Amino acid sequence: MSPNHMSASEEAETDYLALLDRSRIPVHVGCVMDGNGRWAEKRGLPRTEGHGAGEAALMDTAFGALDAGLKWLTVFAFSTENWHRPVEEVRYLMHFNESLLTRHRDELHEAGVRINFSGRRDWRVPRRVARRMEEATELTKDNTRMTLTFAFNYGGRAEIVDAVRKLVESGVPADRINEKAISRYLYHPEAPDPDLVIRTSGEMRISNFLLWEIAYSELVFTDVLWPDFRRDDLYRAIYEYQGRHRRYGKVGPT
Ligand code: IPE
Ligand code: IPE
Ligand code: MG
Repeated sequence: MSPNHMSASEEAETDYLALLDRSRIPVHVGCVMDGNGRWAEKRGLPRTEGHGAGEAALMDTAFGALDAGLKWLTVFAFSTENWHRPVEEVRYLMHFNESLLTRHRDELHEAGVRINFSGRRDWRVPRRVARRMEEATELTKDNTRMTLTFAFNYGGRAEIVDAVRKLVESGVPADRINEKAISRYLYHPEAPDPDLVIRTSGEMRISNFLLWEIAYSELVFTDVLWPDFRRDDLYRAIYEYQGRHRRYGKVGPT
């Protein structure tokens, strides 16, 4: 939704941050960073170049989120299904995520960002990558300005399965299993549910992202391919979010 049905060029020049109601900034935004491969293919480049170009988008979005006052930003970096991609691409993505962390953790730390990970730490995640993840988590664990969570080797169904497993292991009787109990065993029970989930690249699906947590999230889809996404695209999505009426199944205000 654009203000007053603007033309595309007017829209491109709109300062969406200035239009935002600062008292209603979403607390938690999730991002399905999609379209890297297509971005590269359009330029005749290998798909992996698209992942590389996604780094600038991620950093600009993270710092833009800080400027807007977001408290939680969760980005989908690698899904439990992405292991089915060609081995070279998987290898590239593992190394890429490791090097991205190493190169950016200090500036994120200085900016007051707490870095978190969500997903399975199974044997397929190389040891070196897991170690970098632990280091970044440890380094930034006391930061409070914003939590940036990388959903890495993450699947929404796997998360629910893992939660139920832990619940059963803890010996909770069946009649004590309720939504609150399951929520307590998710990867990050302390994180509030996302208010807004953005997916880039024009695909209108969730692809196993935060299934439990997005029950009442607002969804914004954009045709922008992830490597082209910048903070202004985030602000535009938040602007759209602020025009929505969240009813949670109730009867809303007229
Ligand atoms: C998203 O971009 C990044 C990951 C899934 C790791 P894609 O690689 O899915 O790009 P498209 O969807 O093929 O264009
Ligand atoms: C979702 O994108 C996963 C990530 C962004 C990491 P995909 O590209 O894997 O999703 P599909 O295959 O289009 O559903
Ligand atoms: Mg994709």
